[in-house]
Amino acid sequence: VKLLEEKQDLKGKNILITAGPTREPIDPVRYITNHSSGKMGYAIAERAAKRGANVVLISGPTNLDKPKGVEFISVENANDMYNEVTNRFKWANIIIKSAAVADYKPKDVSDKKIKKSNDELAIALERNYDILKELGRMNEDNNKTLIGFAAETNDLIENAKSKLNKKNVDMIVANDLTKKGAGFKKDTNIVTILERNGNITEYGEMKKIDLADIILDKGNEISKGRL
Ligand code: CTP
Ligand code: CA
Repeated sequence: VKLLEEKQDLKGKNILITAGPTREPIDPVRYITNHSSGKMGYAIAERAAKRGANVVLISGPTNLDKPKGVEFISVENANDMYNEVTNRFKWANIIIKSAAVADYKPKDVSDKKIKKSNDELAIALERNYDILKELGRMNEDNNKTLIGFAAETNDLIENAKSKLNKKNVDMIVANDLTKKGAGFKKDTNIVTILERNGNITEYGEMKKIDLADIILDKGNEISKGRL
């Protein structure tokens, strides 16, 4: 039997994808992170490459295998991710920010292991760059297609809409973290996609790999409208 050939509908497109959590160091042995597995971003990278795109995947630490046919850049913290993403901004036609970037980092990183004592310990945190927001600013002539995610536990549509507008992006893929088939670590997701044109589409539970194709279809349509 001849295997079905993938349609190469993303040929010639440069797609930049971020995935996974970031790790913000406290001292040489400890860090702050979150529950992101990287599965959604890796699925998008895999599908984009199979559909013929030039793919750069910038990833925080995950346990996943590198998808085939992508240029892989490994990063640890949000600052490194910011640098790698902004370096590739010019090159990209479509940027998909599925990474769960830490909003805060320890203000002072101790170069020695912090020793315990009997006192309370408070770690001062300061803000990381909002990478997606910076990209939205850099994209004032709207020549790139920007796709963000939103992870919410409440007021999904309202919060996602506000992220769409504040970050000047074309599309937000909103995850309701209270739903059983959605979010971190799972192979499935349940999302609502909000677009700049006002369209809001709710999807039922589906495999992340299938959702990846939907996100790429929409991103490709938006991008075509710009060329
Ligand atoms: N994001 C980013 N840089 C950050 C934080 C978030 O690029 N420092 C991106 C994420 O990759 C995602 C989108 O912004 O595509 C939304 O992330 P989310 O954490 O849901 O929203 P925040 O804007 O950080 O707001 P909050 O966490 O307060 O809900
Ligand atoms: Ca956040």
